[in-house]
Amino acid sequence: MRDKIVAGNWKMHKNAEETEDLLNELIDKLPSDAAVHIIVAPSFVNLASAVQHLEFTNINVAAQNMHQAKSGAFTGEVSAEMLTGIGVNSVILGHSERRAYFNETSEILKNKVDAALANDLVIIFCFGEELKDRQANTHFDLIEKQLSESLFHLQEKDWANIILAYEPVWAIGTGETASPEQAQEMHAFIRKTIDVKFGPAVSQNVAILYGGSVKPDNAKEIFSKPDVDGGLIGGAALKADDFVAIVKAAM
Ligand code: 13P
Repeated sequence: MRDKIVAGNWKMHKNAEETEDLLNELIDKLPSDAAVHIIVAPSFVNLASAVQHLEFTNINVAAQNMHQAKSGAFTGEVSAEMLTGIGVNSVILGHSERRAYFNETSEILKNKVDAALANDLVIIFCFGEELKDRQANTHFDLIEKQLSESLFHLQEKDWANIILAYEPVWAIGTGETASPEQAQEMHAFIRKTIDVKFGPAVSQNVAILYGGSVKPDNAKEIFSKPDVDGGLIGGAALKADDFVAIVKAAM
């Protein structure tokens, strides 16, 4: 049985004070004995304080991005080693907003994956099709391409550090969720794709999260599908009560 994981991607929301307030509310309200892995991803500038704040809790901290180089003249960027240096143990890579607005290609993401693994970070690897792909019925091919181009060079042992997050772009921030059946269909395809390449020891153990308009009122049904191992939550992760309800829906 795979553990459930619920991660909150705070995107570019919450200043230092608001971050502290939300973390305090989460510490108060989240069940400390939850059999669910809980992750929050505040902005870069609030990561160090979040790590300190959450030290004695069951909530882990992820970054939302990182640069692929070890160090160098990359003004404005943050390396994997800088993240681990402040106690961050995981990183979101490949979010569709980074692919679309910051031109992150599969090749760049492959290099980011390698840099994160070299620093023993857990990677939440995001991918997903746009509406036009689904309408053209090319969504399965596209997902296979996104996975193969950035992850198929990995070795079996690397998969201990990989969490997959299927996020159909048309469902992100739109209020339009993939139906539980659509999510299950794609998650089963993803697991099959991983199985064909890496075998059952990897495919049966890798967590596949769903992301895209997950809310307290739809989380339970989506999470109940056999190949959905939890969620990557955007908007609803910014409100403690909603995020707590979503964590509880995964229990
Ligand atoms: P929403 O939950 O706001 O649709 O965002 C999902 C997401 O992009 C998480 O990474």
